[in-house]
Amino acid sequence: MSKYNPYDNVIKTIEEVATLLKYKPSEYEMLKHPERELKVSFPVTMDDGTLKVFEGFRVQHSTIRGPGKGGVRFHQDVNADEVRALSAWMTFKCAVANIPYGGAKGGVVCDPMKLSDSELNRITRAFTNGIAPIIGPERDIPAPDVGSNPQTMAWMMDAFSKLKGYTVNGVVTGKPVTLGGSLGRGDATGRGVSFTVNNIFAKLNIPLKGTTAVVQGMGNVGSVSARLIHESGMKVIAVSDVSGAIYKEDGLNIPEILEYLSKDKRNLLDGYKGEGLKRISNEELLELDTTLLIPAALENQINDGNADRIKAKVVVEAANGPCTVEADEILKKKGVVVVPDILANAGGVIVSYFEWVQNIQRLAWTEERVNTELKHLIDLAFENVWNSAKEYDVALRKGAYIVAIKRIVDSMKLRGV
Ligand SMILES: NC(=O)c1ccc[n+]([C@@H]2O[C@H](COP(=O)([O-])OP(=O)(O)OC[C@H]3O[C@@H](n4cnc5c(N)ncnc54)[C@H](O)[C@@H]3O)[C@@H](O)[C@H]2O)c1
Repeated sequence: MSKYNPYDNVIKTIEEVATLLKYKPSEYEMLKHPERELKVSFPVTMDDGTLKVFEGFRVQHSTIRGPGKGGVRFHQDVNADEVRALSAWMTFKCAVANIPYGGAKGGVVCDPMKLSDSELNRITRAFTNGIAPIIGPERDIPAPDVGSNPQTMAWMMDAFSKLKGYTVNGVVTGKPVTLGGSLGRGDATGRGVSFTVNNIFAKLNIPLKGTTAVVQGMGNVGSVSARLIHESGMKVIAVSDVSGAIYKEDGLNIPEILEYLSKDKRNLLDGYKGEGLKRISNEELLELDTTLLIPAALENQINDGNADRIKAKVVVEAANGPCTVEADEILKKKGVVVVPDILANAGGVIVSYFEWVQNIQRLAWTEERVNTELKHLIDLAFENVWNSAKEYDVALRKGAYIVAIKRIVDSMKLRGV
């Protein structure tokens, strides 16, 4: 397996698609370079009284189409290249969804599973103070990602508001509803994934009912995706988290699993005691014989080391960057249809956009309106990507990048960049 740098994947994809579109390097060169990168170090007092210095990042890849937008990841493996890649994926995702944002991402190097709530609160505030000069409702709007959640966003909003001297709801999205969060935001990414599954299955003439599915990762995105595809009649035969995977040939009891996981935020699947389960590794889960595979954990899960063993017919990328460029090629040759992250998981940023719009206008939409408008934008984006893939005779990932890069390059030209 070759050494993995997610930003190399981004550059390769931009180069390939820009060449396909016959753009001159001068027209797209800027997309290979993030506009602004900030690295911060900050001291935090731990519960035992010791002082620890943490590192964090905020990268604004592009603000050509609007303010930066993207989550904040709390994970022990966060690094500059990962945040850079995630920020670029946000630029392309917002362009595919056709919402008026650029792309940004943040991260803090820490393991939230090993920190108390009060430590997480202090880390979040110190990180927010560090990146405050470059964020704000008009500049760059963070949101939750791996290891962060609505509570994290509430702390970020409070820290930023304290600096300003007044409450700034619109500085982050994915907030609790009482603080100006949007109804439907919690489920939005998984809901968008389930709309995407419906769309691709309809195009491929595969019925949902009784068809097998496997979900890697049971966090915010994976758990909602699993719940909604289960409700649509699919047979979810395996799910996993960081503690490993569980498998049941005739289908898992998804509502029971979700109830167990939600009882305590530290509950993991290795503690779940369902009947007739087989415990397998995450590697084995990815290689199961299934129609649908939804990677919903981290990047680089399907790569040149395991792509030729993937048996799924359709991969819907709920995570960001779960398939490498090399894996894409192998999967394409095997006839596996991959629905790319920048389309499949755009539901989160779409409803974040609705939340920001509500904050700016001091309005609160009904959940029904949020879900209806989400479906409208996801379905539209899917059709655009599907048609562009057909027009250029390429896989869906390239189809999505064609849609995105055209929009971004047009915006740069119009702005005279
Ligand atoms: N939260 C959002 O709104 C959102 C939006 C778009 C994309 N995403 C992407 O979706 C993915 C998941 O994000 P999330 O918000 O659900 O994070 P989360 O922290 O809520 O959940 C992550 C899940 O992945 C599991 N996991 C971690 N390492 C694993 C491994 N090696 N193997 C298997 N499982 C593992 C964790 O146990 C957990 O169940 C990320 O790629 C994220 O960037 C999230």
